[in-house]
Formats: sequence, structure tokens, C-alpha cells
Amino acid sequence: MLFFKGTPTKKEMKDTRRTVIAGNWKMNKTPSEAKALVAAIAEKAAGKDACDVVLCVPYVDIPAAVEAAKGTNVKIGAENVHFKESGAYTGEISAQMLVECGVSHVIVGHSERRQYFGETNETVNLRAKAGLAAGLKVIICVGEVLEERQSGITAEIVSMQTKLALAGIEDLSNVIIAYEPVWAIGTGLTATPEQADEVCGIIRGVVAGLYDEKTAEALTIQYGGSMNDKNAAELLAKVNVDGGLIGGASLKADAFGAIIDAAQ
Ligand code: PGA
Repeated sequence: MLFFKGTPTKKEMKDTRRTVIAGNWKMNKTPSEAKALVAAIAEKAAGKDACDVVLCVPYVDIPAAVEAAKGTNVKIGAENVHFKESGAYTGEISAQMLVECGVSHVIVGHSERRQYFGETNETVNLRAKAGLAAGLKVIICVGEVLEERQSGITAEIVSMQTKLALAGIEDLSNVIIAYEPVWAIGTGLTATPEQADEVCGIIRGVVAGLYDEKTAEALTIQYGGSMNDKNAAELLAKVNVDGGLIGGASLKADAFGAIIDAAQ
């Protein structure tokens, strides 16, 4: 209701943006396993064009995954990107390297990067800008930890992370935001559809304030955190939830296929 005059239907609101179902494999699957899993998921995704299907895979799996995804409607993404074009950054990967390997999407600011690898709002912003400059679609993750939710500051935390991640980014046409409450990631605890919708709506409101309502309406905002074949339909039915970023359930073709079906 926020950004429409009159009373638009849920479908009218959702039609302003693309649903994106993205898998985040994290540190799972070797290249040969990746090849088989991409092929199995591509089979499930065939003909399901109401959403984009993206698999974000470990760097070393990218060539095998890209090869296996050829001629299918599965796109391959990376799980992170460095912000410099090249140089003495041992262990890092540049956006140009990803592009040359056939990658179309990249995740930045995942909570595991923030928690375990010292990622800050500033580096998330730099990584997002580097991905965008190279022509990648960037999935920016934001989300509160349990103590923040319990203290009632979820809106403040997520708004701040969103603003800092988007600082200096003028064009959001290649940006996707993933709302991932940290307490729901890999824990089997899922935000209720209402909680997910509420916070995705808060993010949309922040974007409307920073840019304009049209930009906010067009932005894909995913929910992530223990989304699976059982709860996806209810979450995806919410007006502000435009897809999912899926960890555990993206490692099983059947479960991920069922999530893709729920998005049709
Ligand atoms: P999960 O992970 O689906 O296993 O909770 C989601 C994510 O980390 O993106």
C-alpha cells in the first residue's frame, strides 16, 4: 500500500519487480559435485520463468557450474568479490575475474562474512560498488542479530546497514537486497512471513527515502534464513518479499526445485 495510489492488488505490487530465487552454497560442493547439482537444479528450473534462478557457488566451482548451466535458465553467481581491480590482496578475487568466468551475480555482506571475516559496512559498500562497476548484479545482505531483535532495534540496524551499503550507488537496477535475520540463518528458525514482510517493507521505505518511490517499487528484496520447500510459498506470497536467498535447501535439488515452484 505504501507506494501506490488507490488500492493495488498484491499482484500489481509484485509485478513491478522481478522475483529472484538464489542459492548460496557457502563452503559446500567440489567442482564435480557442483556440476551434478547445477544440472539437477537446471532440470527442475526448466520452463519456470516467473523468477530468476541463481546459484552462488564457491569460487573454484564457478567454471564447472557455468559449464553445467549453459543453455539452461540457471545463472551462476559468486559468494563475494574484492573491491580492487587487481594487486597484492592474497586470497581475494576481483570482479573482472568473475565476469570473465561467466558469473552474473555476486553476494556481498553476507552475515557470515561480517561475523567471521571482519566485513564491515564500509567494505560491503566497496565490494558492492566494484561488482556493479564490472556489470554484475549484486545481492547485498542485511539483517539483525538476535540480541538486536530482542532489544527492538531491528528497523534501526537494517536501515543503517542498507543506507551504508548503498552509499554512493546511484543506479539500483542491478542491486538486489537480501534481508537475512542472522538468528534465522542455518538455525532452522525462520522469520514468520509477517516478520519477513515487515522488515522487507522497512528496507523498501529506506530506499524510497534515499532514491524515490519508483526505484523502491522496482527493487527486488529477498528474504533469507532457513527458507525451505515447506515455508517458501507463504514467505514468497508476501507483498514485500520478492524471492529468497537460500543456503541449506539450495544444496538439494528437490527442495530447491520446490522453492522455485513456489515462486511461479
Ligand atoms: P540458510 O542460509 O537457508 O541455510 O538459513 C541462508 C543464507 O545464509 O543465505
